[in-house]
Amino acid sequence: MPRTPGAAVTARAPAKVNLLLEVGPRRDDGYHDIVTVFQALALAEDVTAERAAPGHGTTVRVRPRPGVDASAVPLDGTNLAVRAARLLAERTGVPDDVHLTIDKAVPVAGGMAGGSADAAAALVACDALWQTRLGLTALTELGAQLGSDVPFALHGRTAVGTGRGEQLAPVMTTARFSWVFVLAGDGLSTPAVYAELDRLRADRPGRLEEPRLDAVERALRSGDPLALGAALDNDLQEAALSLAPQLVATLEAGRAAGAAGAVVSGSGPTVALLATSPAHARELAAELGRDRPGGAVLVADAPAPGARVLEAVRAGGE
Ligand code: C5P
Repeated sequence: MPRTPGAAVTARAPAKVNLLLEVGPRRDDGYHDIVTVFQALALAEDVTAERAAPGHGTTVRVRPRPGVDASAVPLDGTNLAVRAARLLAERTGVPDDVHLTIDKAVPVAGGMAGGSADAAAALVACDALWQTRLGLTALTELGAQLGSDVPFALHGRTAVGTGRGEQLAPVMTTARFSWVFVLAGDGLSTPAVYAELDRLRADRPGRLEEPRLDAVERALRSGDPLALGAALDNDLQEAALSLAPQLVATLEAGRAAGAAGAVVSGSGPTVALLATSPAHARELAAELGRDRPGGAVLVADAPAPGARVLEAVRAGGE
């Protein structure tokens, strides 16, 4: 396809880790009310949107970064980036002719919201390519229709999420944290993990408790990784461990290696370890990586910004 100025836009959107994930009872619409604290990671997906000929529709290809297994990512209309482009086109009345390329760095089905980052980056890239100029508020509304974590991937940084996770309030913190992520071979499906939690909790409905959120917010304000490590908590962890019991050993290995905190990331199966410094994160990654094949341990600083157009490939003249 010939490239002309303004014919392609690349946007970047971050993966996330949940510092806290409290899960309340199942709602009538099948979702669960949650109270979560998201933190965006300097580990991101890049989505390039290229103009395509009239009638082409929306297509997608995926280029995995080294060490990432992207074989489970669908290339049809169920791909979240494709759904994002089509939703934006429908909302703004433009033709949805675009070819998307996802440069995938975030583990698939890992509990780190890689698919949500794809949707967020596709919204931002197509909004710039098509000059539909919806802006963050309207894009966030579209994002919430695509997935509960998409609004956060648009906003980034650190935020409290309520509702099903799509209602965001930023957390003011200047502290930076260093994370290590230990990946698991097979992904876990988010609906399956929530369903397992419902099964385990059959006779004790989930509760959303204010003190746990206070502890995380205090730790974020202090910037002390030991305080944050102690405050990390995830109600989905019990369900993820029930479906993937081998993760117990990973959590224990992380703690034994000196992590300030160890928790299953989101719905898992990735395990997040909090380090006390960037150098400590590299040490932890080396230690945890020793028994694992290449690419199974990632290091990422946080927080990171939300979805944005990358300067270097901005559409012509804007
Ligand atoms: O909205 P999203 O696509 O991220 O959610 C995937 C699935 O995870 C939902 O269909 C639902 O089964 C489960 N979920 C939930 N409660 C939430 C978020 C997700 O039960 N707050």
